[in-house]
Amino acid sequence: IAIVLVIVLLFIGFAVFFVVARDSVTPPLDPVSRPGGTSAEDPYFPQHGATGYDALGYEADLTWDEGTDTLSGHSTMTARLTGDLSSLALDLLLEPSAVSVDGAEADFTVERDQKLVVQLPDGSRSGEEVSVRVEYSGQPGQVTPGANVQPAWHTQGDEHILAGEPGSAPFWLPTNDHPSDPATLDVTLRVRAGDAGLSVGALEGHTTEGDTEVWQWSLAEPAPTYAYTIAVGDFEIEEGEEDGRPYLYAVSNQLPAATKAEMFETLRLTPGVIDELEELYGTPYPYGQMGGIVPAHRFWFGALETATRPVYFSEMMTDPDEARRIVIHEYAHMWVGNTVTPAQWKEIFLNEGLASHAEWVLAERQGGQPAEAMLATYYHQLGSRAGFWTVDLRDPGVDHMFEQAYLRGPMAVEALRRVIGEDAFAELMTVWTGQQGPATVQDFVTMSQDVSGKDLSDFWRAWLEGTEPPPNTAEYGLGV
Ligand code: ARG
Ligand code: ZN
Repeated sequence: IAIVLVIVLLFIGFAVFFVVARDSVTPPLDPVSRPGGTSAEDPYFPQHGATGYDALGYEADLTWDEGTDTLSGHSTMTARLTGDLSSLALDLLLEPSAVSVDGAEADFTVERDQKLVVQLPDGSRSGEEVSVRVEYSGQPGQVTPGANVQPAWHTQGDEHILAGEPGSAPFWLPTNDHPSDPATLDVTLRVRAGDAGLSVGALEGHTTEGDTEVWQWSLAEPAPTYAYTIAVGDFEIEEGEEDGRPYLYAVSNQLPAATKAEMFETLRLTPGVIDELEELYGTPYPYGQMGGIVPAHRFWFGALETATRPVYFSEMMTDPDEARRIVIHEYAHMWVGNTVTPAQWKEIFLNEGLASHAEWVLAERQGGQPAEAMLATYYHQLGSRAGFWTVDLRDPGVDHMFEQAYLRGPMAVEALRRVIGEDAFAELMTVWTGQQGPATVQDFVTMSQDVSGKDLSDFWRAWLEGTEPPPNTAEYGLGV
């Protein structure tokens, strides 16, 4: 025992000596900071986003000059570092002129056209909050976006609106432009007197300073950057409160009076649609505001789920049933897409499949065609078309992300509802929409099995990945 004790003591003594001696001779290690990633590593849009930080909120103060079509001003991003960084990257297609970090001037470079790389102070550590202020200006209508991104700045006469998915933020605001990093937004827009400067969230202030109108907006709940919008022009505004929730609808004064009246009629469906969606999802509407913007520009895609205030293109909204369907779709996105966001763009089924399915269920609940019948119709009519079952909905590819997700997406969700039953489906919607932040299709698949207690691996393989129609078995109620 004595020998063992001596050996142990010697060993401890040696270890202590070693540590103390080493500490006294070796200088402290340099901070291991490295550049933040200049891509969110999304396979579909590798030019988008960044890594190394989590954006918490953006604040912008911007002036629109109608004479030169120039947007200029500054923005500040508050972010929490997720690594020990020497620099971080932001997406911006306009021209930065000065950058500061926590109030101190910072060096920056612009890489690959839309990547603004900002040097951080030495010793910037994981977990710290930084505020990055960028002064910039440019003509959003003149810039060229990167691969697979359409111009998002739409102009009609003296009216301009920003709307685009997947890429729209780099046209106007330096951001981590990837849906895996939703954040809040506060924006002040300075426009010429007589024009409106619109955005998302609450209208916090509206004043006139000389020949400038100042519009201040605040989105208090996070949204992905493609779900931000700004619009400038001559708009008619209708404001009020319903069910204790403020609304603000804006319709372009360039539209004919009859169209404007129709558009306001459609926008007024919003509070009712929100109630119906709260019922479907079993979770409260995630935003404190509601509304909508109908620009003069008639067509982009249909609509975009900009947070609290979707953009609707009037050409798509002329039929009242179709208009209601679109309002349901865009408001469903406030839960599925804007609150539970796609971790990568390939997860777009989570947005479009679920939002399109909400249209089906709400039509059913209004006495329209049952969703089950919609499923059967789609299965027999669209489903027999060549090419209908060729895209893998879990990874549709960048060229097909906005196609089958709207058709096979709701089919898969409705088939799931048939298989797991109404109660499990309701529970799944509640648990799913109760989340916040990035999610994957695999998360949804796993949750559907956890909630229903069923092994759904064959089901999901057939309905999402299948390269041929799923079997016409009785459980789907597809009829003959
Ligand atoms: N998310 C929009 C909607 O479902 C449509 C976006 C379409 N984007 C596109 N690049 N085609 O209402
Ligand atoms: Zn959609």
